[in-house]
Amino acid sequence: MAKGQRRTSSGIPLTDAERVIFAEAKAGGSKAICFFNNKGGVGKTTLVANLGAQLALDFNAKVLLVDCDPQCNLTQYTLGEERSLEIYSESDPKTVYSIIRPLALGKGYSSELPVVKPEKFGFDLVIGDPRLALQEDLLAQDWRDAKAGGMRGLQTTYVFLDLLKKASAQSYDFVLFDMGPSLGAINRSILLAVDFFVVPMAIDIFSIWAIRNIGQTVAIWQRELKSGISIAEDPSELPDVERREQLKFLGYVTQQHKERGAGVSKTGAIDEGAPAKKIVLAYQEINKNIPAEISKSLASFYDVGKIDPHLGEIRHLGSLAPMSQSQNTPLFNVAAGGSYIQLRKQARELYRDIATKLLRNITVA
Ligand SMILES: Nc1ncnc2c1ncn2[C@@H]1O[C@H](COP(=O)(O)OP(=O)(O)OP(=O)(O)O)[C@@H](O)[C@H]1O
Ligand SMILES: [Mg+2]
Repeated sequence: MAKGQRRTSSGIPLTDAERVIFAEAKAGGSKAICFFNNKGGVGKTTLVANLGAQLALDFNAKVLLVDCDPQCNLTQYTLGEERSLEIYSESDPKTVYSIIRPLALGKGYSSELPVVKPEKFGFDLVIGDPRLALQEDLLAQDWRDAKAGGMRGLQTTYVFLDLLKKASAQSYDFVLFDMGPSLGAINRSILLAVDFFVVPMAIDIFSIWAIRNIGQTVAIWQRELKSGISIAEDPSELPDVERREQLKFLGYVTQQHKERGAGVSKTGAIDEGAPAKKIVLAYQEINKNIPAEISKSLASFYDVGKIDPHLGEIRHLGSLAPMSQSQNTPLFNVAAGGSYIQLRKQARELYRDIATKLLRNITVA
């Protein structure tokens, strides 16, 4: 462990059942999970950071997070302004961009996996990079080549599969990807490389559309890639290609409705009387339809009979969220007093619960 990294658990001991589920989920090597929704602002980054921290700090897992969003919110959240600034001020900061860049230069896969250790989250992090946006074009061009069976295109498309090979060699139990809100080339490469995906979503019509998009788009990409590989010159040169068609859906997390400006007090307590009735009715209707939408749109990615995909409902945690950001600390470990203590307790139970359900779904997926 790096100097300065603190491994402070939430203080809630694991139950025996949680230990068993964890041991089962981590058996058989490292698992890669991405958190994806092409709708923005649905709590992806907050979820991935807190879930990663929960797995690292409470379950004592070896966890790697990869910030693949050019906005770099995950990096800023977990490292803080000062440390981020320090790193980004270096002449050639080692980031996720350094992993993709050598491919753009025709030099093949990068030889290293650069990580930093955010002080209070317990996991390692491949930091984000705004220059990642520049690589969208390269990945998009090489995708055309990949579909036609070109080795260079396939190599670029599998850049994250190569990252996972390195992570596995370094014995990470879990590799979690935070992604920007798009169905662009970077996210395609991630979705074609990982074992599992989780969909964080708001309860609104946009998220329903997003679920439909994800299912259809990923299925098309997989078909196109498969056809590319079938005509490729030497697929054995690609990293671990047998992993490519195993993408499975682990579940979704809903964000509790928040009526903007009203209905939520400073500490996050929901005032049931405040939200406009019409909005609440629309919300209830959409909420009711989500399970059917999920099983209809994502049925080919999970066993509907075996998995309960609803991993949890994230309640609005009020000012605990900005406090967690300014302290660069998981929600469940925010230094707080007064009414925030109750809110923090809820965050502790919530993330433990989501982590346990996620681990259980890994064992049956
Ligand atoms: N449970 C919560 N309670 C209160 N605020 C929250 C909660 N979860 C997230 N937020 C806040 O909502 C905002 C959006 O969250 P977040 O950045 O996690 O979303 P995102 O889906 O990653 O966004 P983007 O699409 O831009 O990547 C942030 O300011 C975050 O602090
Ligand atoms: Mg984000």
